[in-house]
Amino acid sequence: MAPNKKVVVAFSESRGFSKRLADKSGAQYSCLEVEKFPDKETKLRFREGVAGRKVFLVRSLDNPDQKLIEVLLAAHTARDLGADKVVLVAPYLCYMRQDKRFRQGEAVSSRIIAKLFNGCLDGLVTVDPHLHRYKRLNDIFKMKTKRLTAVRPIAEFMRQRVRNPFVFGPDLESFQWAKAVASIMGCKADVLRKQRYDSESVRIEIKKKHELKNKGVVIVDDVVSTGHTMMEVVKDAKRLGARKIYCVCTHGIFAENALQKLRRLGAVVYATNTIKNPVSRIDVTRMISREIR
Ligand code: R5P
Repeated sequence: MAPNKKVVVAFSESRGFSKRLADKSGAQYSCLEVEKFPDKETKLRFREGVAGRKVFLVRSLDNPDQKLIEVLLAAHTARDLGADKVVLVAPYLCYMRQDKRFRQGEAVSSRIIAKLFNGCLDGLVTVDPHLHRYKRLNDIFKMKTKRLTAVRPIAEFMRQRVRNPFVFGPDLESFQWAKAVASIMGCKADVLRKQRYDSESVRIEIKKKHELKNKGVVIVDDVVSTGHTMMEVVKDAKRLGARKIYCVCTHGIFAENALQKLRRLGAVVYATNTIKNPVSRIDVTRMISREIR
């Protein structure tokens, strides 16, 4: 029997996610062999033949630095071994927030990472990438790209859980998601104004007078990192009398105990499974598997 033309290749922590993608898309599943040499350099090996096949490397790039080295080694190796196409499925794409030199002398990391990927990938699939100063992925990436959004899985998940909802987007960029989620949930949404002074300090104001009593407030953003953005909105929504507050994001990075901090403020937190964490209950594998298919 001819081998399956498509193979989904997992890294150590992406096995469960990749297996689900392979099952749903009808591709073969395989897992890389990754070890360390005694000097801590990485040794990597494909277990399946990839010559003439379409290879989907699946890995979310949260905590990215070590993961990036392995992805680059794997992508170049797949090409060396004669893969027909090499596609990276990175549900969370790293370094996208470093899209300008914020302070003199700083690296514009997103461009540097894009150059590395441009040298070894034929395709890139990702979910809700942080596009702020870049309008589209191909402003920096040269390969074919596909930008998926978790709006529908998020909205359908929340619709079943929230009574009398009202949606907030914490800043201008987040409004695209907040508005779309609210429209599927059949409720209103508003965008707030955010001032970020540094990664730890954020100021957000709810300017309009909102009647939030009896409302289930749903705050929607692409990323929760330190959680400061969400925390500011949670505090304001509480002040305005919200009955219950939900923080929902596509990518739950939850750095610096952000999840615990949000829960301590009384918020219920959900994220998609682009990054595995205790609240990653919203599944995006069906949506991604359609791309592989
Ligand atoms: C920024 O524009 C993003 O959309 C998020 O609002 C931001 O990355 C969240 O970061 P943090 O959780 O550290 O406030």
